[in-house]
Amino acid sequence: MGVWWWKLFVAALAGILFSTQHCASQKVPNYTFMHNATTAPDVSYYDYIVIGGGTAGCPLAATLSQNYSVLLLERGGSPYGNPNISDLAAFGAALSDTSPTSPAQRFISEDGVINSRARVLGGGSCLNAGFYTRASPQYVREAGWDGRVVNESYEWVEKIVAFEPQLKQWQSSVRDGLIEIGVVPNNGFTYDHIDGTKVGGTIFDQNGFRHTAADLLQYAKPTGITLLLDATVHRILFRVKDRSKPMAHGVVFRDSLGRRHKAYLKPDPRNEIIVSAGALGSPQLLMLSGIGPEEHLKAHNIRITLDQPLVGQGMSDNPMNAIFVPSPVPVEISLIEVVGITTFGTYIEAASGENFAGGSPKDYGMFSPKIGQLSTVPPKQRTPEALAKAIEVMETLDQAAFRGGFILEKIMGPISSGHLELRSRDPNDNPSVTFNYFQDPRDLQRCVQGLSTVEKIIESKAFSPFRYPNMPVPVLLNMTASAPVNLLPKHTNSSLSLEQYCKDTVMTIWHYHGGCQVAKVVDRDYKVLGVDALRVIDGSTFNYSPGTNPQATVMMLGRYMGVKILSERLGGAAAADETEQ
Ligand SMILES: Cc1cc2nc3c(=O)[nH]c(=O)nc-3n(C[C@H](O)[C@H](O)[C@H](O)COP(=O)(O)OP(=O)(O)OC[C@H]3O[C@@H](n4cnc5c(N)ncnc54)[C@H](O)[C@@H]3O)c2cc1C
Ligand SMILES: *[C@@H]1O[C@H](CO)[C@@H](O)[C@H](O)[C@H]1NC(C)=O
Ligand SMILES: *[C@@H]1O[C@H](CO)[C@@H](O)[C@H](O)[C@H]1NC(C)=O
Ligand SMILES: *[C@@H]1O[C@H](CO)[C@@H](O)[C@H](O)[C@H]1NC(C)=O
Ligand SMILES: *[C@@H]1O[C@H](CO)[C@@H](O)[C@H](O)[C@H]1NC(C)=O
Ligand SMILES: *[C@@H]1O[C@H](CO)[C@@H](O)[C@H](O)[C@H]1NC(C)=O
Ligand SMILES: *[C@@H]1O[C@H](CO)[C@@H](O)[C@H](O)[C@H]1NC(C)=O
Ligand SMILES: *[C@@H]1O[C@H](CO)[C@@H](O)[C@H](O)[C@H]1NC(C)=O
Repeated sequence: MGVWWWKLFVAALAGILFSTQHCASQKVPNYTFMHNATTAPDVSYYDYIVIGGGTAGCPLAATLSQNYSVLLLERGGSPYGNPNISDLAAFGAALSDTSPTSPAQRFISEDGVINSRARVLGGGSCLNAGFYTRASPQYVREAGWDGRVVNESYEWVEKIVAFEPQLKQWQSSVRDGLIEIGVVPNNGFTYDHIDGTKVGGTIFDQNGFRHTAADLLQYAKPTGITLLLDATVHRILFRVKDRSKPMAHGVVFRDSLGRRHKAYLKPDPRNEIIVSAGALGSPQLLMLSGIGPEEHLKAHNIRITLDQPLVGQGMSDNPMNAIFVPSPVPVEISLIEVVGITTFGTYIEAASGENFAGGSPKDYGMFSPKIGQLSTVPPKQRTPEALAKAIEVMETLDQAAFRGGFILEKIMGPISSGHLELRSRDPNDNPSVTFNYFQDPRDLQRCVQGLSTVEKIIESKAFSPFRYPNMPVPVLLNMTASAPVNLLPKHTNSSLSLEQYCKDTVMTIWHYHGGCQVAKVVDRDYKVLGVDALRVIDGSTFNYSPGTNPQATVMMLGRYMGVKILSERLGGAAAADETEQ
């Protein structure tokens, strides 16, 4: 019996979302301004240079291009025409592709949790689970944003990328379970962040086809923007006139053949370079450009532009913990569609999938060790061999065992935080990142409350069709906690506490943020403190993850800051036109 459960669990980890379905090919934008960096001139000049064509960088560059010349530099390739990115059922294919040209670059935090960062036009929105939901009005107030422009910016984003999911039985039963156990009211379908249970938006349309931040470049003015792919920025260049602040005025980037190019700002002091390279990329690039802790930069032989000890501080990743529930009946393939927003700082979400007779498992499930989930590997055991072994075990399993879903909880915040350091001067290398999951006891407390809530959903009447009556919660917990793909020491005895379970089964939900936080590295207008003509606009500026899931707010922020920058430069009337679009 134990062996059966073990097989079932591992198989579910492996193939929870694989599918033999193929989505109809969709019309994709054909951007006339998108080029391979190999075709770029050695030197060129623009009003704005945006580094990173990700979730924030695309809407930002599209907006600025309306009135100025913009260069958008993205280190990855195009997402268009790649089913690993566009198909819902392929979730995890990109994450498990560890080749140097993969749209996902794997990294392992010092905590031992395997994680991933985007390397593709559209950034994290090309890899993510698609859930789309706004930040709370309180979050907007505390950020000091203008609520009206925020709402207009969300709407601008939603017109292109957000959809209402069509709930099937398994997700519906999670929603009904949440309501049954008192995560109320039932707020129906909404993008808004309100206590209770809701169906949120998704960037997957009704054919399971992903729409991404790259699609927001449809808003760009084609003559105002140059987008270069496979363009990796190595350094931001500064001009230092005596006694004044260093002023950013250009960038050095390399194409895929290793050729070096320079791009400069046209000589107008209002022109700017904007870093949107993500929570790992932005602090990394500031450091590579000489803005960071002086001693650390010296150790890497980097010329100091500005001693700034707070660059790379405040790195956080919201811990995710899940319980796997095998199902006696078939379940639909779903990513996140429903969320329970509790009053104690925990968000409850879920994903499901199953095997299809005749298909072959692709091993791309949300919790597959191939993509890193449930693979918290202690530092000394983080070998490729260890991972390969877990994957090998998985691949030998009986497909008939695949069936069920994961109910997960993510804590808000988090309060715990860590830091980022360079490992080398190569921007292609991952920096070293430490998140310190559950270092603050309040984070652990929220996890425990979240898991208790998940337990109640599993035991609810509404969810009962999707669980085996003879598998009580302690057995399910035990099963998840003893998953062989997690190489951390196990504490699966009869007194396994939820605290221990939280620590043993910690995963990422990939909402990591920080490193260039507001009031520490940038001011409230996202201008880098201590230098001129440089801003950072992306998830690295957050103190806490916005909403239940961040992407809506990251895209909104790109648009919002584009509108702000234009309105400051063009004056109120032009800005009003701009926001009406
Ligand atoms: C697997 C996964 C699942 C997720 N699920 C969800 C979800 O369901 N819902 C949700 O709301 N959020 C989700 N998220 C989180 C969300 O997608 C991210 O928070 C968001 O995409 C981060 O946006 P960003 O603009 O800060 O960074 P990114 O989108 O990562 O953009 C940074 C860009 O900069 C580029 N870059 C970096 N360095 C350089 C350089 N030196 N030169 C040139 N270019 C560079 C990168 O290639 C990248 O394209 C998920 C994330 C992942 C990875
Ligand atoms: C994309 O646009 C270019 C320029 O307009 C055109 O030459 C090319 O054929 C188009 N490609 C596709 C696939 O439509
Ligand atoms: C800015 O661009 C928009 C759209 O391209 C245009 O309508 C507007 O007139 C421009 N404003 C200025 C001041 O150039
Ligand atoms: C750019 O061109 C180089 C050299 O031809 C090629 O290897 C690379 O794949 C191209 N990149 C993209 C994004 O098309
Ligand atoms: C899709 O992912 C698979 C497995 O991760 C990989 O082998 C394949 O090359 C990827 N395809 C594309 C087009 O990126
Ligand atoms: C923005 O929209 C939210 C609902 O999404 C609403 O609660 C809020 O009042 C709006 N803010 C403004 C300034 O209109
Ligand atoms: C959990 O597993 C451990 C060892 O694998 C076993 O000793 C314990 O009895 C199990 N507890 C439950 C509740 O199944
Ligand atoms: C069970 O595990 C806990 C840690 O979760 C440990 O403190 C305790 O001593 C263990 N009990 C037994 C009987 O092994």
